[in-house]
Amino acid sequence: METSHSVTATINGRAETFETVGLESLMDALRNRLHLNGTKEGCREGECGACTVLLDGKPINACTYIARAAEGREIETIEGLNDDLSTRIKQAIVENSGVQCGYCTPGIIVMLSALLRRIAAPDEALIREALSGNICRCTGYAQIVDAALDVIHGKAPPS
Ligand code: FES
Ligand code: FES
Repeated sequence: METSHSVTATINGRAETFETVGLESLMDALRNRLHLNGTKEGCREGECGACTVLLDGKPINACTYIARAAEGREIETIEGLNDDLSTRIKQAIVENSGVQCGYCTPGIIVMLSALLRRIAAPDEALIREALSGNICRCTGYAQIVDAALDVIHGKAPPS
């Protein structure tokens, strides 16, 4: 039988303690134990970016990160990204029709938030590079990149 561990981490600004078993992924712990279902399950292999969350401010694939390793760390999921920048990114994606099925969208917003926190005005090549691990099968990326450029150029409406 696999050993159960108690993990305490800061999740979306709040101290949370949850149980995890064996090599359970952070993605499964967030979704199934903490009911943060905005972190999407796609490939489960670190290839699609649907499960992107911020770990101490840096984007990671939560499907390949062992939940137990989150002890003492700070995690931000899409549910916790309600700051002005993230809100403008969300609005710009909607306004540019960057959401079709929406399955990839939380991971893309998390990734863009991380990028624009770090670099205020990345060029298009940098935006595309940052999103290279986030697979969207619906939009072809143009609208998503346009949304990021709108935020950078101040075209998105204020929150
Ligand atoms: Fe994590 Fe695809 S589900 S990268
Ligand atoms: Fe459907 Fe991106 S909007 S996968």
